[in-house]
Amino acid sequence: MSAKPKVFVTRIIPAKGLQMVQEAWDVDLWTDDLPPSRDIMLQRVRGVAGLLCLLTDRVDGELPVAAGPQLKVVSNHAVGFDNIVVPDCTARGIPVGNTPGILTDATADFAFALLMAAARRVVEADRYVRTGQWKTWGPSVLLGSDFVGATLGIVGYGRIGQAMARRALGFDLRVIYYDPTAIPEPNDPAQKVSLETLLSESDFISLHTPLSPATRHLMDARAFAQMKQNAVLVNTARGPIIDQMALYDALKTGRIFAAALDVTDPEPLPMDSPLLELENLIIVPHIASASQSTRDKMAMMAAANLIAGVQGQRLPNCINPQVYDR
Ligand code: DGY
Repeated sequence: MSAKPKVFVTRIIPAKGLQMVQEAWDVDLWTDDLPPSRDIMLQRVRGVAGLLCLLTDRVDGELPVAAGPQLKVVSNHAVGFDNIVVPDCTARGIPVGNTPGILTDATADFAFALLMAAARRVVEADRYVRTGQWKTWGPSVLLGSDFVGATLGIVGYGRIGQAMARRALGFDLRVIYYDPTAIPEPNDPAQKVSLETLLSESDFISLHTPLSPATRHLMDARAFAQMKQNAVLVNTARGPIIDQMALYDALKTGRIFAAALDVTDPEPLPMDSPLLELENLIIVPHIASASQSTRDKMAMMAAANLIAGVQGQRLPNCINPQVYDR
């Protein structure tokens, strides 16, 4: 009987997905809480037929070379794939999988939660109580912004951006969006606008665009200068879409009202980052998709991509389907 193909899984993923892989293949599992170092990645992929990696692992052309010609698939346990140099995999005919669709609602829920928390100063208010500053009810204590009638600007109108719009419409917000590739639907109450219009008209801005050379530092000092003074900015997409020094200045000087970041650049943020001093900024550790059932589904989808790839079948969710046209 021939030995099962070997695969490398770079972290303990939810059991529902891990078991699928362990039942199918011989799994080398990285069990540390922290990601494997680059050197360890390059060693551990040697001879594997498949790699199941996380957004904390960089996969570029060096990795398939280190793995060897038997590498048949790279499966990312995330919908975003800016950690993978996809053309390097495509050039070697290696399909790359991701986990689209299943984390849309969890991520939009969390983006909306962050928006409400930042606009109504929930985290700041909690600190206010815990640090003994609450002396009495006051007419002007911790005033925030109203939602009804305000304008939400969504940057990136894909699945998650549209789910964010649905939530906002339920709160009677006006919704506008900027997305050069989106084709407006005739019955969509949300309106497509230019980036300049979005920046200057939005009371709230939520980022839902992938990270690419075009979106890196899209929110820079120039963008902050165009925003309203009451603007609240939420980022659940990728940290480098915001120029963090420009964000710091905008929050520190009151150029904008508040912000909430699920993602930062780098992750984790160093403890001496000046951002951590700001009262009007909420920062959480990249958990927008972190609900139990969503993470189970992500693990199962990543496992299904890995299993299909090792079997030489088409991945259920493939980022570079052009590998199949060869
Ligand atoms: C993704 O999947 O890209 C998210 O950032 C993590 O869930």
